[in-house]
Amino acid sequence: MTQMAWQGVGRGGDGQPAWSGASAGAGATAQALGGVQMEHAQVRQAGDVILDLQNISLAFGGVKALTDISFDVREHEIRAIIGPNGAGKSSMLNVINGVYHPQQGRIVFRGEERRKMHPTAAARQGIARTFQNIALFKGMTVLDNIMTGRNTRFRSGLLANALWWGPARNEEMQHRRKVEEVIDFLEIQAIRKTPVGRLPYGLQKRVELARALAAEPSMLLLDEPMAGMNVEEKQDMCRFILDVNHQFGTTIVLIEHDMGVVMDISDRVVVLDYGKKIGDGTPEAVKANPDVIRAYLGAGH
Ligand SMILES: Nc1ncnc2c1ncn2[C@@H]1O[C@H](COP(=O)(O)OP(=O)(O)O)[C@@H](O)[C@H]1O
Ligand SMILES: [Mg+2]
Repeated sequence: MTQMAWQGVGRGGDGQPAWSGASAGAGATAQALGGVQMEHAQVRQAGDVILDLQNISLAFGGVKALTDISFDVREHEIRAIIGPNGAGKSSMLNVINGVYHPQQGRIVFRGEERRKMHPTAAARQGIARTFQNIALFKGMTVLDNIMTGRNTRFRSGLLANALWWGPARNEEMQHRRKVEEVIDFLEIQAIRKTPVGRLPYGLQKRVELARALAAEPSMLLLDEPMAGMNVEEKQDMCRFILDVNHQFGTTIVLIEHDMGVVMDISDRVVVLDYGKKIGDGTPEAVKANPDVIRAYLGAGH
């Protein structure tokens, strides 16, 4: 129910901003997360800017997906990107991890301006992500899927790996150990040998998070990690996201439709609408921003 709140209330315009409409379901999530949020509020500390996006524009033929968008991401924060469907949120994540190359703008990551970059290069720089539509090998087990998250970290040559020899063997053990740690962390021991395709949707989303975490990212990009989940599954996912943030200090860029969740767990929120940035700031500031309210009420379009 809660994940529908945005789409359902969003542009429909029933006289209430989306977060008021969402409050019934999201409130339940918020209540259950009460303790976690307190803790989160206490450990919140803005680090340095590690990702600076400056005047980014991206078009597909005549479609302007992103127009002159600037915002930054600070180390260790949870940065949410919100906006109605088609606003350009997923495109923005694709720009950050090198899937799309903007026609205009600058991207500075950890002090270095980035030119065209392949997603594997972004992964090697410590950026991992999950996708709006789950991207896992459905026929493979949970364990093997999570293992693919280690790909960018394999060091020994192909031959050594093929022969299961010397350094390759040590390396493989190391990867297995890390994968088991992630499995314990996300509490999915019981399904480690299950083919992903047989799992319910909520657990598949968790496995995808596990695959991303296996890469030991310093920045995690999550594209609607709670979409399609029930309230209980959302609570679990919220907890895991906060735990990752607290325990590993991972910087998180999160696209999410559930306004209750966004307002509860993010440090700062950027709001996109029709490829343009219409709001940026703390959850409270964004909630009170007239442009944002207008976009969500469907007025002025
Ligand atoms: N690969 C692509 N080719 C053409 N158009 C695209 C592509 N990716 C996104 N778009 C367009 O860019 C706009 C923003 O899409 P998207 O970033 O997926 O929005 P959101 O994630 O906010 O729903 C939409 O109009 C969409 O159709
Ligand atoms: Mg999207």
